[in-house]
Amino acid sequence: MQNYFEMIKNRRSYYNLSEGIDLSNEEVKYIFEDILNTTPSAMNSQPVRVVLLFDDKSKEFWTKVNETYDNKIDKDKFHGFFHAKGTALYFIDDDVVRKMEKDIPSYADRMEQWAEHGCAMIQLNAWQGLREENIGASLQHYNPHIDKWVRDLYDLPENYRLVAQMPFGKIEEEPEEKDKAPMDKLLKVFE
Ligand SMILES: Cc1cc2nc3c(=O)[nH]c(=O)nc-3n(C[C@H](O)[C@H](O)[C@H](O)COP(=O)(O)O)c2cc1C
Repeated sequence: MQNYFEMIKNRRSYYNLSEGIDLSNEEVKYIFEDILNTTPSAMNSQPVRVVLLFDDKSKEFWTKVNETYDNKIDKDKFHGFFHAKGTALYFIDDDVVRKMEKDIPSYADRMEQWAEHGCAMIQLNAWQGLREENIGASLQHYNPHIDKWVRDLYDLPENYRLVAQMPFGKIEEEPEEKDKAPMDKLLKVFE
C-alpha cells in the first residue's frame, strides 16, 4: 500500500475510460460497501445512498443522459462515459435530513449542508479508493435534468435526491497537469 499522500496525488479527473478493469463487479461493490460503512457523516446520520451501474446498465444510463441533452454532450466526453466499466450515482436521502432537522432543531439549518458534506466525503473516498485500484473516475453533474427518469428507471423513492454521477473504468489516458493557485493564497500558518 503506497503512502497516503502519494495516493491522493494520483487521483485525477479521468475522462477517457474503458471497460477492462482488473476487478470484478463484486470487488468494486465491496469497495463501495467499505466506503459507505466507514466514511463519517454528521451525527452518524448516514444520509447518502449509492446506486452502482455496471456494464450495459451504465451504457444505458449514459445513452439516456445524452438523449436528455439532445445528444449534445461533447463526443469525446460521451465516448469515455459510455465505454466506462460502470457508474456510481450518489444520492442524499432527504427523509434522513428532514428527520435530523426535526430531532435536533438547534442545528436544523445546518443539516442540509452537512448531508452534502457527507456525500462529498463519500464521493472523494470512492474517487481515491478506485484510483488506488488503478481505476480512473470523474465527477459529473447532469442532475437535476435527469432526476425524474433516474428515479423511475431504478425504482427509487421520491426522497432520493440525485447529487452526482461518477463514471469509472480503465484509464486510457492520463489528464494534463492543471494550474494550481499559489500556496500562500491557500494556506496561512501562524506559529
Ligand atoms: C464539487 C465538484 C464538482 C465537480 N463537477 C464536475 C462536473 O460536473 N463535470 C466535470 O467534468 N468535472 C467536475 N468536477 C471535476 C473538477 O473540474 C476537477 O476535479 C478539477 O478541475 C481538478 O482536476 P483533477 O480532478 O484532475 O485534479 C467537479 C469537482 C468537484 C470537486
